[in-house]
Amino acid sequence: MAEVVIVSTPADAGSVVADEIARLIFTNPDTVLGLATGSTPVPVYEALRSRLAGVDVSRVRGFALDEYVGIEPGHPESYRAVIHREVVEPLGFNPDLVRVPDGSLAGIEHAGADYEAAIAAAGGVDLQILGIGTDGHIGFNEPGSSFASLTRVKTLTEQTRSDNARFFDTIDDVPRHCITQGLGTILRARHLVLLAFGAGKAEAVAAAIEGPLTAWLPASAIQLHPHVTVVVDEAAASTL
Ligand code: GLP
Repeated sequence: MAEVVIVSTPADAGSVVADEIARLIFTNPDTVLGLATGSTPVPVYEALRSRLAGVDVSRVRGFALDEYVGIEPGHPESYRAVIHREVVEPLGFNPDLVRVPDGSLAGIEHAGADYEAAIAAAGGVDLQILGIGTDGHIGFNEPGSSFASLTRVKTLTEQTRSDNARFFDTIDDVPRHCITQGLGTILRARHLVLLAFGAGKAEAVAAAIEGPLTAWLPASAIQLHPHVTVVVDEAAASTL
């Protein structure tokens, strides 16, 4: 059963989660963080700035959940660029220790297995930050994703493309494919922390925590994990 923490504001959620991440890093300088993109985790990264100021974070490792396939490497909305801008630079992490799945077309057939091997070599993820899509996706595991899936290439649904179009000039610029950690990969992390804000996420949150286990609501996979914390505001908790 997930622990559910209801907070007043996204900033409060950021504080709660940043406290836990800082505690991990103070206890273990080799902490391995599972990083997420999207707007939801931003308050966590912002709150971490003050908590990690002056702390030696040179050994912290990070693995992002996902990346668009075929996006220009320097594109500001590639998840590599986003993780660099929102996490690595402001928090002073060693960029060589923070990985994002390789969405470039050259070598895409090995990228999933390479990523799994890198996570395993790092000893696995200590704490995985998760957002949730309005269709219940985590990472880019869209409805229908196997609970056993590992990092692989997927096709984005039109709903996700339209949700993410706000980051691009037009919807035609939103990539059609992605490479994402699988649900099986995510479930291997030692602690899952799922955040969601706003009424638009309420149904997906309720289905993830209280609904049936189903590949059609990929976030329901978190019910299989022994250590899950869900941090939501009142609007996202409104149908629990
Ligand atoms: C994208 C990301 C997900 C994220 C989701 C929700 O699809 N791949 O990891 O959880 O968006 O985004 P937001 O947090 O902006 O609502």
